[in-house]
Amino acid sequence: MARRRQIYEGKAKILFEGPEPGTIVQYFKDDATAGNGAKSGVITGKGVLNNRISEFLMLKLRDIGIPTHFIKRLNMREQLVRAVEIIPLEVVVRNVAAGSLSKRFGIEEGTRLPRPLVEFYYKNDALNDPMVSEEHITAFNWACAHDLDDICGYAVRVNDFLCGLFAGVGITLVDFKLEFGRVWDNDEMRIVLADEISPDNCRLWDARTNEKLDKDRFRRDMGRVEEAYQEVARRLGILPET
Ligand code: C5P
Repeated sequence: MARRRQIYEGKAKILFEGPEPGTIVQYFKDDATAGNGAKSGVITGKGVLNNRISEFLMLKLRDIGIPTHFIKRLNMREQLVRAVEIIPLEVVVRNVAAGSLSKRFGIEEGTRLPRPLVEFYYKNDALNDPMVSEEHITAFNWACAHDLDDICGYAVRVNDFLCGLFAGVGITLVDFKLEFGRVWDNDEMRIVLADEISPDNCRLWDARTNEKLDKDRFRRDMGRVEEAYQEVARRLGILPET
C-alpha cells in the first residue's frame, strides 16, 4: 500500500489524504469506544461491515436526492469521499425513546415518540458533546439559519427513508446520528451528509423481538456484537446468506 499522509485519527476511523485534491480516504477500524472513550475495545470485522453498510445506505440516500460526501468504496476497509468542512454538530434523530433521551426525560426505553425528534449536540469531546439549541448554533456561528434549514430538511428525509428501508427488512430504526459538512462547487457552498451511517451510530432493533442489533450491545456488554452487525448487513442483502 502506498504511503499516504494521515490527516486525522478518530475513535473508529482514520482519514488519509485522497488521490485527487479535494478527496479523502476513510479507513474503517475495528476499534470501538463508548461513553466518550470511557470504555474501549475491538469488534472484530466491524470496520469491514460498517464500510459496506455505510456505502449501501449513502448510495440509497444519494438515489433519493440527498447530497453526500460519498464517492466510492475502494476496498474492504476504505472508501473515497469528498473533503468537507465538517459542521461541529451531531444531529440525532429519534423515533423511539432510548439512550440519553430516556435518561434525560425519564421516558421508558422502547416508548414510541409522538413524532420524530431532531436534536443537536455540539461535537466537542472535552465538553462531552453537550446538547444545544438552534439558538446556540446560530449565535456561535456553527451554522447559519439557512444551513440549519438544509440540515433539518435532510435529517427528516433521511429518517423517513431509512425508517422504511429498515422496516422492509424487519428492523426498527430507533434513533441515529448524522454529521454534515460544507463543500464548494464553483464557489457555491452546499451542505452534504458526511461521516458514516452504520450500527455504530444507529440504534437498530429487530422489529419482532426488539433484540438490539447495534453498538448498544458493546456499550452494555451484551455480547454477540459482531454477529449483530453481520445480521444487519445480511438483512440489507449485502452479505451472502449463511
Ligand atoms: O446516546 P444517545 O441516546 O444520545 O444516542 C442517540 C443516537 O446517536 C444513537 O443511535 C447513538 O448511536 C448515536 N450517537 C453517536 N455518537 C455519539 C452520540 C450518539 O453515534 N457521540
